[in-house]
Formats: sequence, structure tokens, C-alpha cells
Amino acid sequence: MKSRIEVRQAVKDLSVYSVNQPDCLVKLNQNENPYRLPEAFQRDMAEACSRMEWNRYPEIDGRSFREPLSRGLGVDPDTLILGNGSNELLMAVMTTLLEPGQRLLVVEPTFALYRHLGKLTGADVLVLPFEGMFEFPEEMLAQALADPRTNLGVLCSPNNPTGSVLSLEQVQRLLKVARGALLIDEAYVDFSSQDLVPLLKEYPNLILTRTFSKAWAFAGIRLGYALSSPDLAKEITKALLPFRMSRLTLEAGKILLKYEAWLRDRVGEMVKERERLFDSLDEMEGITAYPSQANFILIRPEREAQWLFNKLVKKSILIRDVSAYPFLDNHLRITIGTPEENNLLVKTLKSILGDQ
Ligand SMILES: Cc1ncc(COP(=O)(O)O)c(C=O)c1O
Repeated sequence: MKSRIEVRQAVKDLSVYSVNQPDCLVKLNQNENPYRLPEAFQRDMAEACSRMEWNRYPEIDGRSFREPLSRGLGVDPDTLILGNGSNELLMAVMTTLLEPGQRLLVVEPTFALYRHLGKLTGADVLVLPFEGMFEFPEEMLAQALADPRTNLGVLCSPNNPTGSVLSLEQVQRLLKVARGALLIDEAYVDFSSQDLVPLLKEYPNLILTRTFSKAWAFAGIRLGYALSSPDLAKEITKALLPFRMSRLTLEAGKILLKYEAWLRDRVGEMVKERERLFDSLDEMEGITAYPSQANFILIRPEREAQWLFNKLVKKSILIRDVSAYPFLDNHLRITIGTPEENNLLVKTLKSILGDQ
């Protein structure tokens, strides 16, 4: 008998998540930390690897890393779930809280995975646009979250790709009216003065996700975490696989914590660079730049974004064309690089735009 594979319609309707990555010497397209961790870190890792019992499964709950991490954050370990990148946790939260017919609320343009994962669960995705210069539409958000059909709202603060932030007071107001859960993705929190962790004790409907991929220079290892009430954390854990955090990842995380001061210094430099790059872009003819609280800056060129993107690629500088994002035609996103990379970008942009 001929087999017939039935792929779910919700999956068929999605596209494979992809990133346009031409080879370039200067890489400013994925909001990574431009600095490699120091030599001492590399030596600690090599030493840890030589001792590793590769033949044994890792800890089922990643406790030996979860405990020092939660201590540093001042939270109970039972409120913290580890993931191979925060993407994995976003997926687990959505599969825990959404089913066909329920509603996911997002504000776009934002990280494309929210819509993708929401659709994957079969939920209805309600999309609100930003207001003015990419400010969160608080009134509309409050109304939509108060609707009993909205089982989950996912907001990104600082938001990728606009750099917009929600204030603590705004989040509090939204949590008070929300009938379901509100997840705030804090992937870029280290580059801002935001800290929503103190709200977790008061609001059992709050979920935070964070990542080591950006400020913590760990995009290659895949490590992130979610914070929520212990009850919700227990439910979300059921949607995750056992033994998913490898021995290598857990060990790398423990070692990384020793380098926190070094990383905080780099983040401080990147924030200064962001302001310096913003001033240069803001002064440039032919470009509108938007202020950002993250490690990237959104710009709108007067000429076609694709044209500018290609011109930069020819000079071996890769940025991100975000023109296909909803409500964002003709925009580009630039990750903050090292001072040398940022100088080169500014010089190249000036020569391209002056050359027209
Ligand atoms: C807003 C946001 N959340 C989450 C992620 C994914 O992070 P991770 O590497 O932890 O999966 C990204 C990556 O670009 C992001 O921009």
C-alpha cells in the first residue's frame, strides 16, 4: 500500500526560517557581540573539556548551572528554565499556552519567530502596529490583552528591530489588565536600563525570556533562560525535552559566569559606540536613524534599502535588510560592531551616498 504523509496545514503554511548571509569581512547583521571571549576563557573551556565525561548523560535539570545563575539574578531556581537559546523557550511557552482557536497578541515589526511559532501552534495571531516613532501602542495593547480570547501576549523590549522599550510602569499596567500571560522577550536587556525581574514576584502572569547570545557573546553555544512563577515554570518544562542541555553547554555557562565583569565592560563600550554611531548616522544626508536601547540601530535610507544593502555587501560589510518585516518597507538594521568596524561602516556609507 502506498503511504500518504499528512503534514499539518499550519506547518505547510509556514516558510522555512532563513537569513540572507553573503560572505563579508564585517558582519553587522545578527546583533552578535563583536568581541571574542578572552584567552583565559578559552583555556578554562579546554581544561573543562579534557575532564568531561562525554559518555554520561548531563544533569536532567541543569541544576549546577541553574543555581549559580538564579543566585546572580536574585530569583528562586524553581522559577528559571534553561534552554538551548531562548528560541527553544519561546517555542515551549507557545506550545504550553496556545492551541487552535486561541489568540496570540504581538506588536510588529518585531522578531519574526513569534508569529512563526504562534502559527505553528494553530493559534490566531493578532498583530498590532507600533505608533508614531515606533512606540508601543499601550491603549490598544491593554484592550487586546484584556480580551479573554488572548491567552498570550509576546512583546519584545528592547524591541528587535526598532530598539523601542516598554517602561516598567507600562508593563505593570499591562499585566494588571491581561487575562492571559504576557511574555516579555528581554534578549537585548543588557544594553538598556530595563529590569523587569522584580515584577515576577508580584505578577504570576509574567514570563521573561533572556539569552546569552547577544551581550554575553555566546551565540555559538546556544544558551538562554526563561523566568516565570514556579507553577508556570513547571508546566512549561513539560513542553521541553529531558536532558536537552548538554554537558558542554552547562559547563560553558558556568565558566562564562566568571567573566561577567569582562562582559559588562564590553557592553558598556558597545552602548557608547551605539550612541556614537547613532550621532554619525543621524547627521548623514539621505538616512533617517531611530534611537535604540539595544545593540543595533534601525535606519531608513531615502534610496532603496536593497540598493544600499548590496552596495555595502560589495564593500564586504553585511547588515540586515528588514524591509520585508510588516509595517517596515525600506528599512535596514545595523548591529553595533567594534569601533573600527563602525568607523569603516560610516566611511563607506558616506562614500556610497556621496557617490549617487
Ligand atoms: C528578540 C530576540 N529574541 C530571541 C532571539 C533568539 O535568541 P537565542 O539565540 O537565545 O535563541 C533573538 C535573536 O536574534 C532576538 O532578536
